Amino acid sequence: MRVRKAVIPAAGLGTRFLPATKALAKEMFPIIDKPTIQFIVEEAKKSGIEDILVVTGKGKRPIEDHFDSVPELEQNLKEKGKNDLLKLVQQTTDINLYFIRQSHPRGLGDAVLMAKDFVGNEPFVVMLGDDLMRDKVPLTKQLINRYDQTHASTLAVMRVPHDQVYKYGVIDPGTEVSQGLYDVKKFVEKPAVDKAPSDLAIIGRYLLTPEIFDMLETQKPGAGHEIQLTDAIDRLNKIQRVFAHEFKGERFDVGYKFGFLKTSIQFGLDHPEVKDDLKNYIKELAKTLK
Ligand code: G1P
Repeated sequence: MRVRKAVIPAAGLGTRFLPATKALAKEMFPIIDKPTIQFIVEEAKKSGIEDILVVTGKGKRPIEDHFDSVPELEQNLKEKGKNDLLKLVQQTTDINLYFIRQSHPRGLGDAVLMAKDFVGNEPFVVMLGDDLMRDKVPLTKQLINRYDQTHASTLAVMRVPHDQVYKYGVIDPGTEVSQGLYDVKKFVEKPAVDKAPSDLAIIGRYLLTPEIFDMLETQKPGAGHEIQLTDAIDRLNKIQRVFAHEFKGERFDVGYKFGFLKTSIQFGLDHPEVKDDLKNYIKELAKTLK
């Protein structure tokens, strides 16, 4: 069955960015001029996804507005002949987006469970908004390509420095069944550094079969007393094979302050409007630093 649905959990409170997140959803923070969630939606589109469900919560209405059309703005830009800007505004509206509100966020697993009716009996992808990915082939498409061969759930993983594993879900890899594709003995959410089974961390892209919902419905809270998607995947792996696909591209974690800053600089260095000024600024700045 073709993979055509995606779920983007976006109900988190964004406490790492307080006070900015008091009144502004972190998914709307721009990298230069584009909200982070738009990068995720664009990756989905480029991967052939047709329908996206965004799981939102309190204060997330701006996300809905962002992907809605704004006739007055479009008319205004048309009249002024600002066609480039008009194109940018219209780009955000040509995909099917659905929204559901999660009033009591109880963890990532719980957020994904909200998508049960939307997904139905199809394979689907989960895309986390904190992880922006860059590669020739979008990571979501890479997972779909794997699925087309294996028809099994497949998670994206990436090697991370060993002292960082406690921040992630980590896999205990089995055999490498084909290049960069592992079968998995175990999935552990946020292991202690000395207990982590490997340095292969789950990054924010998952391709899942609908049987995951049976697991999520009975999933008990795990790390941080939250319903963890990783724990449900570990149980799914006991009844059907779950694979891990090693991502070799670039990952930008915009979910914490320094990661957000680094991403802005990296993307700024590629942005036609600001790249030259930014390069010069960094060169000048470097001279003043010890
Ligand atoms: C979530 C997942 C974790 C994964 C991480 C990737 O954790 O629970 O398994 O490794 O995303 O970014 P969070 O960052 O929400 O704590």
